[in-house]
Amino acid sequence: MSAATNRFSTTRQDIAGQPIVDLVAQYGTPCYVYDMGVIRRRVADLKAFDVVRYAQKACSNIAILDRLRRLGVVVDAVSAGEVRRALSAGFDPHSKPHGIVYTADVFDREAIDLVKELGLHVNCGSPDMIEQLGSAVPGASVTLRINPGFGHGHSQKTNTGGPQSKHGIWHEDVDRCLRLADLHNVAVTGLHMHIGSGTDLEHLSQVCSALERVAHQIGRTLTTISAGGGLPVPYRDGQSYVDLDQYFRLWDTSRKRLEADFGHAITLELEPGRYLVAESGFLIAEIRAVKKMGENLFYLLDAGFNDLARPILYGAYHPISIAHRNGRTPTELVDVVVGGPLCESGDIFTQEEGGFVAKRKLPPASVGDFLIMEVAGAYGFVMSSNYNGRYRAPELLVEDGKVHCIRKRETYDCLIQGESIPPVSA
Ligand code: LLP
Repeated sequence: MSAATNRFSTTRQDIAGQPIVDLVAQYGTPCYVYDMGVIRRRVADLKAFDVVRYAQKACSNIAILDRLRRLGVVVDAVSAGEVRRALSAGFDPHSKPHGIVYTADVFDREAIDLVKELGLHVNCGSPDMIEQLGSAVPGASVTLRINPGFGHGHSQKTNTGGPQSKHGIWHEDVDRCLRLADLHNVAVTGLHMHIGSGTDLEHLSQVCSALERVAHQIGRTLTTISAGGGLPVPYRDGQSYVDLDQYFRLWDTSRKRLEADFGHAITLELEPGRYLVAESGFLIAEIRAVKKMGENLFYLLDAGFNDLARPILYGAYHPISIAHRNGRTPTELVDVVVGGPLCESGDIFTQEEGGFVAKRKLPPASVGDFLIMEVAGAYGFVMSSNYNGRYRAPELLVEDGKVHCIRKRETYDCLIQGESIPPVSA
């Protein structure tokens, strides 16, 4: 691990140089804002890897995908919808390396049709997928996603390895899958392992040796290995980044050993989601009520878990800052519980895993001040919903000093789109 960060402040006036009061005056609240400068820096951090394949599930707005494509990043897609998003953002499924790879444990009907139509490369996470792909596209080449039998994540819900996880092909099933691939005339050219999201270097590094073992079972058809995603980012002071140089060296060593054994070049891919976008994103909300309930002081916002689900789902911690409407930056701090507008008691942003309400030290604030949930770019907007009849927030991209609205706020029409009231039978 590299040095711990200590950079989160409880007051903030701007995002990427744009005054928060101005952003709010133009676009309202709640709203997501992404700082393109941060995304660029995160892409640059990973330049040692041959291929950076963005796990677009983290933040799939087509403007973000477009900008990542221009930075030389390719994408992963986990559904037909994500494949179509990648196409809209200009990715070429046939470029080298594959501009789009479909990675999943199942094909739904639309996905297998799209894979066939576009000739997409597939990362198969189940033996059934190999068979289905072999029947739909005889002669295809595939990547196998192997569950090495262990995993780790920031929460049990983001651990994607081990027997409790539904992901990947079980490591003891590799030989059977290779025979299955032969039977369907499918060539195994890629090998992929992803053990979890938001894990640590110690766990991430265990993957190298597991992957090397499976690589030897597959043999000389192998041309690409993928270290998966999972790179953590600091969500609070005291947490640190993974030492990327050390991480790359571990993988590079494994890759070189495989190159020596197989006698040909092996491409090394990384598949980050969170790392590329988490820190670029901010969710701005307005404080709409301040009330004391027994010992607890609540700031209630116009954003809820329909906008940012990570706290209620995982007890995830997001740094919080306040932008006072009148530009004040008070130095004193008070204990606050931060909640949203939803008609559900779990709608609390300051909670720990298990739903326990926690207090946060924040500056005194009043109705009309703004509260910013930080490090919200990954698994933020993409996991938002219309629960309680709420419109999904707009997304803004700040790039080179300009603000672009890359998704409009939803309206009532979006809410009832596709619904209809059948006539009552007489
Ligand atoms: N590759 C595969 C096959 C994955 O399943 C995932 C994440 C990634 C890459 C990217 O992982 P990352 O680099 O972002 O950690 N909603 C949760 C995270 C779920 C991750 C699911 N898979 C959260 O908010 O923390």
